[in-house]
Amino acid sequence: MRTYRQQLLQLLADRVMTSRELIRELGISQPTLSRLINTMQNEIVVMGKGRATCYGLPKKPGQEFSRLPVYSIDAKGDVHSYGQLTPLQGGQYWWQSIACSSEISHHLPWQIQDLLINGYCARAFALRYGDQLKLSPRLTDWTEEDMLIATSRCGEDRPGNLILGEESLARYLELVHNPPELMEPGSQALEYPQLALKTLARETIPLQLSGEQPKFSVCLNERGAPCQMLVKFSPAADSKEARRYADLLVCEHLTLEAIRIAGLNAARSRLVISGNQTFLCIKRFDRRGLFGRLPVISLRALHTRIQEPCDDWVSAATRLHKQGIIRLSEARKLKWLALFSDMIGNANQHFGNISFVPHGKDNYLLAPAYGMRPTIYEPLAGEIPARLFTPPSLRKEAESEIADARQAAILFWKSAAIDQRISEGFRQICFENCELLQLQERGGKIPQSQDFFINKD
Ligand SMILES: Nc1ncnc2c1ncn2[C@@H]1O[C@H](COP(=O)(O)OP(=O)(O)OP(=O)(O)O)[C@@H](O)[C@H]1O
Ligand SMILES: [Mg+2]
Repeated sequence: MRTYRQQLLQLLADRVMTSRELIRELGISQPTLSRLINTMQNEIVVMGKGRATCYGLPKKPGQEFSRLPVYSIDAKGDVHSYGQLTPLQGGQYWWQSIACSSEISHHLPWQIQDLLINGYCARAFALRYGDQLKLSPRLTDWTEEDMLIATSRCGEDRPGNLILGEESLARYLELVHNPPELMEPGSQALEYPQLALKTLARETIPLQLSGEQPKFSVCLNERGAPCQMLVKFSPAADSKEARRYADLLVCEHLTLEAIRIAGLNAARSRLVISGNQTFLCIKRFDRRGLFGRLPVISLRALHTRIQEPCDDWVSAATRLHKQGIIRLSEARKLKWLALFSDMIGNANQHFGNISFVPHGKDNYLLAPAYGMRPTIYEPLAGEIPARLFTPPSLRKEAESEIADARQAAILFWKSAAIDQRISEGFRQICFENCELLQLQERGGKIPQSQDFFINKD
């Protein structure tokens, strides 16, 4: 017959339980349960106080991974305690934040979800650190727990200002003691092609950001002030595909400008052209100087709070505003960005492509826009799509933003149509798209969408 200890361990292996539930399941009295728990203090996680006390089992008993401290780095580079994460058996997490009360959840707490990166850099990260962490070099083999282990050990440079785990904090502090060399703006054109090569050959330390485009980071010397940048680049090859990627990077730069001209916030970027290659150099809005960091949270993480499916930006804006998480002004800006994206052919409207900045107590402002380009024209399996852009049908929920967003999109297509850094063929596409939006603005009849591919040599 199994002892109470064994029965208790089995019950808690499935999920967290209250003392009342344990008394009922084990058929014992409160004093017996208390004595039992006292003898098992090293095996059990006791959460909360008084009547709200719950019990669970740590995911990795007796190991340092059982309780993970989370730190925040401020704009000056000073370290602060932010919270503690305890992964539990049964797939649950206990999150204790310094600022507010603790919570038990079935998924990674939304506050720290962005620490788990994905995409190109995450694949490079798995390849570089897999061996050292005794994990597979393939990101696709990693579980959420593997990603957490990796983040707690080599996650010193995640987006935003949070760092998980003592080891990652030690790596950040190591960085502070051995700061990277600043790059002079004049050497960008010379150094970027080499950095791009090394990034593709996985010879550099991978950038710890999400997103599917390859990228690297540099710290520029901007008139004496260190400035952290992320750099996206087109392929060095002289091919139609490479040309299209280069055109789209110029477009990304122009969309950010068009957004700023319209009065919204967008990341600051600059283009560096070197030979066939185009580099889009974007100032990081979550970094300050060499070591300072600023908090950001993705729409994906913030949206997890309301436990609704991630569908589209307009609906998310409405929901987050209704729940009091963002103000009307921010909801309107997010809707504007959704419409603008529709009108510039940015089909990449996933919830990682919008971020917020915490503002005051439990309120969020839209972070600068980033990652917006006419993705419908991205090369697909080596082919160059020349899709006929169709101005989107207009959404009622965002009616008040339409005219303004359309003006900005027209400005974007117009500036791309005359930008000599863009190939002639693509400039023609931009010109036609500008005309289409202007036609829609005048209430004219829009031709129907029709996808086709140019497949010439
Ligand atoms: N200027 C910036 N400052 C700080 N973080 C940024 C900035 N721009 C992008 N990021 C972060 O880097 C991630 C990747 O950036 P971005 O979306 O531009 O890359 P991408 O590879 O083009 O992405 P996608 O695969 O979505 O097209 C973003 O999800 C965001 O977290
Ligand atoms: Mg992105």
